[in-house]
Amino acid sequence: MSRLAILGGTPVFEQLPDYTHWPRGGEKEKEALLRTLHSGVWGGLGEENRHFSEAYAAYCQTRYALPVLNGTVSLELIFRALGIGYGDEVIVPPYTFSASVHSIALCGAMPVFADIDPETFNLDPASAEQRITPRTRAILGVHLGGRMFDADALGGIAQRHGLYLIEDAAHAQGSEWKGCRAGSLGAAGSFSFQATKNICSGEGGAITTNDPALYEKLWSLHAGGCAFGAEQEEHSWLGTNARLSEWQCAILLARLERLDGDIELRMKNAAYLDKQLSELPYFRALRADERITRHSMHLYCFRYLPEGLDGLPRRIFIKALAAELGNVVCEGYCDPIYEMAMLYSDDFQKMTGRTFVNPREMLPGNERIAHAEGCWMTHSSLLGPQQDMDRIVEAFAKVGSGADELRKAFGQEEQK
Ligand SMILES: Cc1ncc(COP(=O)(O)O)c(C=O)c1O
Repeated sequence: MSRLAILGGTPVFEQLPDYTHWPRGGEKEKEALLRTLHSGVWGGLGEENRHFSEAYAAYCQTRYALPVLNGTVSLELIFRALGIGYGDEVIVPPYTFSASVHSIALCGAMPVFADIDPETFNLDPASAEQRITPRTRAILGVHLGGRMFDADALGGIAQRHGLYLIEDAAHAQGSEWKGCRAGSLGAAGSFSFQATKNICSGEGGAITTNDPALYEKLWSLHAGGCAFGAEQEEHSWLGTNARLSEWQCAILLARLERLDGDIELRMKNAAYLDKQLSELPYFRALRADERITRHSMHLYCFRYLPEGLDGLPRRIFIKALAAELGNVVCEGYCDPIYEMAMLYSDDFQKMTGRTFVNPREMLPGNERIAHAEGCWMTHSSLLGPQQDMDRIVEAFAKVGSGADELRKAFGQEEQK
């Protein structure tokens, strides 16, 4: 094996392939923007918004889709529309982006962390059920990286305890559980179209639901509280302005056309990588589950097993791997949300009326994945030909073979 790139050798990818740069736009996006430019309608729920709402609802197999500003506001609106707020609790996994948690507290409710399953990185249903109290109103499941959570188990728990199941599907555009699309499985689904997402408009989001009454309330909340379908400005709810502009809806329509082709390629390459990399004693693919019939592969998540390389810490392994592959691989969420200052701030106390108590001891699965084993690669790195997947495998093997050299070079760092 040649010398490791981090120690001055030649990287496996000397240049990042073009397809890894994200987001990318082409003729379709240009056409969409020009169409909007010349339409004279740039905001205020025009034709692009209507077309995208219809197309996205059809894509998600739901009755309704409501475009909104982003995937944080979408969650806040869902909680507010369901009447979840001060005094209530929402169960949420800690292995997620902070927005899943901010949005709960911003509505006045208390986020209650349940553990994740280290073999899926998703909410562990047994842990979620244990965290239910008389104040619990909802379970917010996150389809982490686009991998569907166990919708049978969480759906069953929600039903038995009279709770709402809400999907944070920010990563899961086009993923499926037993043939049912993300966003169609609970009371409502929340999507993000922020710049790194599989379809994106710079910033953006959407809410999906099958419930007409909930849709009408969501619509009203996102349009300044105006009554749904009212002829005149009639403010029935305390609303906000969360309407998505025509520019963003036009871009999203163009991106949606590319999504299925991208998903197929990513799934094929992910399956190939799982198979090839599983030969290495320091790599572990997430558990296969036949009920996940489609996976958006927003993140290619895997576990790094330090014991497979005599305890070489993840941080050094990933640093060396990133030197070979470029900035497409990382350690994932390594600072657990329940340690973040926001939960211990005066602001949090004011919003929720309660003091947050660190639940670390109850979350061994998350502690392990956050601090030692969790890793991921970006979705765009899976958009290449099979030869490039072979080069990714070569990089993993190269770093593994250089573990002793890494230990020598970064020994001191290892002691930290
Ligand atoms: C799991 C998850 N939920 C919610 C969000 C919030 O989405 P946005 O950035 O569009 O507000 C994100 C954003 O990355 C996310 O990853």
